[in-house]
Amino acid sequence: MASASKAIELSVQTSGRGPAVVLLHGFPLDRTMWDPQVTPLAERFTVVAPDLRGHGKSPAPPGPYTMEQHVADVAALLDRLRVERAALVGLSMGGYIAMNFVARYPDRVWALALADTRPQADTPEGRQARVQSANLVMDQGLDPFVEAQIPRMFAEATIRDRQDLVDWYRRVVGSGRPSAVAAAQLGLAERPDTTAVLAGVRCPVLVVVGEQDAITPPADARLMADLIPGARLEIIPGVGHLANLEAPERFNAALRTFLETAAPA
Ligand code: MLT
Repeated sequence: MASASKAIELSVQTSGRGPAVVLLHGFPLDRTMWDPQVTPLAERFTVVAPDLRGHGKSPAPPGPYTMEQHVADVAALLDRLRVERAALVGLSMGGYIAMNFVARYPDRVWALALADTRPQADTPEGRQARVQSANLVMDQGLDPFVEAQIPRMFAEATIRDRQDLVDWYRRVVGSGRPSAVAAAQLGLAERPDTTAVLAGVRCPVLVVVGEQDAITPPADARLMADLIPGARLEIIPGVGHLANLEAPERFNAALRTFLETAAPA
């Protein structure tokens, strides 16, 4: 259905100058997830950090929010910013979107960084759990959802020692719109398997994962790195799913080195 992938205008923050790097956040967060990355990357790159549909300050039309729709939104954003080619950096849901984007627009991507993500579609049980979670959010609001998510997002040590990060997560996710969180969750349930896409990726790829990521564990990262010709794999010790926030220095060092090597002249 043509209207299914009609793009919306995403809210976006852009910083810096140089080749474009688009930061695609995880579910159900917003672009502030990338705050520790924006300033270091903006020294060398034009950093484009959108709020994905239904998240942050972007519009939240009725869902489900499919990967096809997210891809259309990101392509429209690049058109609006007059960016022909960009590096995509996607964490978790952002990675699912990045893999679907490179499948659809291989010539628009000069590099791909896949963080704490995976190529597989959900299992039937996983889909069922997302439907239940979407129903719970619609019935009871976001608080029970947020509390259930926290132990899945961070390593135990982060939850113990980094109350600031846990508070940030509560604040950002808790201030979301329940209908949009449900719409995003149902879109994730429908996402296609992109395993077959990976072998055909021709741009430079970095795969990065927190060693204790409970949602998309290092085994998924190894699978992606094995499937993608020439991909580099970085496993960050001691951190969980939100590795860019839990270990920003290590994450930034890997990402910057990768992007600087891959950047078009
Ligand atoms: C995310 O961090 O984007 C989500 O945890 C992804 C997922 O639920 O599969």
